Amino acid sequence: MLIIAFLPGDGVGPEVAGAARRVLETLADAEGMTLAFRDCLFGGAAIDAAGDPFPAETRQACAAADAVFLGAVGGPKWDGGAVRPEKGLLDLRKSLGVFANLRPIRIEPGMEARAPLTPERVKGVDMLIVRELTGGVYFGDREEGTERASDLCVYTREEVERVARIAFEAARERKGKVTSVDKANVMATSRLWRAAVTALHEKEFGDVALEHMLVDAMAMKLIQAPAAYDVILTENMFGDILSDEASVLSGSIGLAPSASLGAGKAGLYEPIHGSAPDIAGQGKANPVGAVMSAAMMVRHSFGNDAAARKIERAVSAALAAGRGTADIGGPDDTRSFADDICARLEG
Ligand code: NAD
Ligand code: IPM
Ligand code: MN
Repeated sequence: MLIIAFLPGDGVGPEVAGAARRVLETLADAEGMTLAFRDCLFGGAAIDAAGDPFPAETRQACAAADAVFLGAVGGPKWDGGAVRPEKGLLDLRKSLGVFANLRPIRIEPGMEARAPLTPERVKGVDMLIVRELTGGVYFGDREEGTERASDLCVYTREEVERVARIAFEAARERKGKVTSVDKANVMATSRLWRAAVTALHEKEFGDVALEHMLVDAMAMKLIQAPAAYDVILTENMFGDILSDEASVLSGSIGLAPSASLGAGKAGLYEPIHGSAPDIAGQGKANPVGAVMSAAMMVRHSFGNDAAARKIERAVSAALAAGRGTADIGGPDDTRSFADDICARLEG
């Protein structure tokens, strides 16, 4: 039996996580897999119920699970509160030790004409952003004040090496190229980043092509020549920003999944988007980012590549058939889109 700690969270989180859960249940029925979902309070919903975005019971359930599945957290309701829902997410990532956040971005066949950029521009887009997830400015000491504030950005060589290793290994299975992104013309952490990535490359990954790029230029190149990139390796905050930007290449942020991995098999799976307060509760949220995150869970934490592919093929087929929510110009609501994906899995 595979145990999934299930954290729907806030806003569209429960809508997209619910869709992913139905897809997983459909898959489990077809494959004879036994999945057990442990429902957990998390984020703003947990602040409301327990005064804590990451309550002890949720912490225990996540630690004991084979994988953690998250919808999204946050929203205006909790702005200005004593503790933010997002703090729970940072604590969850840290407590699971998931230092490598994999965010694949590709253009599905037939989606070229439905994406915001021109079809010529997005043709051939197939990249993997490897974002460092448990270090950098997200986790440095903070001083909060009305006249002065500071956020400390710290990286150690070991933190850089372990995430770079994941990127190089992924490139070996893909197109063999890593673009490491930093701000080495300004930041000390970026100069350490660049030196550590270069040294690891020389020592262990000479067969992989490595280039370095400054983050401002990368933001431009991502739009100008997105098909030129394979694996993009970068630190926590740059990866956060570049992955939202890159998601537009695929059609919508609602399509983008992620897997956050550490040393073991357990992982955290979540779409890259947030709680989308502007569309929450209206059935408008695209469930594909969550559904594809579930496929990543089946692959990485359950070790079942064939079953993961079934989910991915069902999603590809649904998109190729013109299905989808309004963000990609489709006719569906969240539920009817997920129903269609489930039907393709069964059929
Ligand atoms: P957001 O990602 O929630 O939304 C940005 C835009 O993308 C909105 O217009 C939204 O409608 C659209 N969008 C997002 N998901 C979509 C989907 N599945 N289908 C269709 N459209 C979608 O970012 P935001 O508005 O800046 O943040 C809202 C809240 O979410 C904030 O509190 C933020 O901290 C939080 N957040 C949480 C996570 C997470 O839980 N992993 C990630 C990002 C932001
Ligand atoms: C993401 C989100 C989070 C992040 C926030 C909600 C803390 O934007 O998962 O991309 O910045 O990592
Ligand atoms: Mn983000």
